[in-house]
Amino acid sequence: MELKDKVIVITGASSGIGEATAIRLAADGAKLVLMARREERMQELAQKLMDEHQTESMVVKLDITDREAVLKAFEAVKENFGRIDALINNAGLMPVSYMDKLKIDEWDRMIDVNLKGLLYCIAGVLPVMKAQGGGHIVNISSVAGRRVNPGFAVYNATKFGVTALSEAMRMELTPTMNIKVSVIEPGAVATELTQTITDEDILNAFNKRGNGMIPLEADDIARAIQYALSQPDEVMVSEVLVMPRKQQ
Ligand SMILES: NC(=O)c1ccc[n+]([C@@H]2O[C@H](COP(=O)([O-])OP(=O)(O)OC[C@H]3O[C@@H](n4cnc5c(N)ncnc54)[C@H](OP(=O)(O)O)[C@@H]3O)[C@@H](O)[C@H]2O)c1
Repeated sequence: MELKDKVIVITGASSGIGEATAIRLAADGAKLVLMARREERMQELAQKLMDEHQTESMVVKLDITDREAVLKAFEAVKENFGRIDALINNAGLMPVSYMDKLKIDEWDRMIDVNLKGLLYCIAGVLPVMKAQGGGHIVNISSVAGRRVNPGFAVYNATKFGVTALSEAMRMELTPTMNIKVSVIEPGAVATELTQTITDEDILNAFNKRGNGMIPLEADDIARAIQYALSQPDEVMVSEVLVMPRKQQ
């Protein structure tokens, strides 16, 4: 797909992979909708996209755990642009912890954002794509959606969920409704994602890893998203796993 003038919604656009994806797709001439809670960060990004690529972006301050607000936000995007060509379903968090710490609020939060919030965004975009005769949904899962690790149990559960959901969605939506569904699975990426971790034992284990692994840059994942989006009409990139060279 030619990305120029395509309307692309990015959740979690205020930092990390979402921000890098906005920058990359703006360079391709896409019209962007930036969604997250930190409005100031998105306004700064929108200004940068305008200065560097003359792209006007729509900024939507949104907590994706608020179902009604999500549905309204997608209606507002449809109203503003008349269509939505792609959704990058990227917002997520990773306060990983060992199960016996019983950080139940953090378990809830991961399920609410990584799974339920992602589903609300799908509910927001699906009727629009169905009515316009096609579209592309790109769900951001993780290598943690393909294999488990101690300390990651609930995060693993959410990301295995996103990967499974994506494959079933593809089977339902792509052949009959022309709505492509891709799942992108990053390995370790240098972003703010680890800042929500409160379990000291996990943080200590992270600090001791030291195998010389250089994490990916957020733009490495933005390029994978751009690749999935920009294929010819008949080509469906269903799954992309991108790992740092030294990550096992
Ligand atoms: N970094 C990695 O190593 C890695 C690896 C595999 C997969 N991933 C996945 O990549 C995605 C992006 O993460 P990142 O690494 O770029 O981390 P990040 O910089 O922390 O970005 C997370 C984004 O999610 C948004 N977000 C969190 N809670 C939200 C909520 N309730 N409503 C709306 N937006 C919310 C944040 O925005 P606000 O705080 O402004 O709302 C932020 O923009 C996540 O799904 C993550 O699981 C990351």
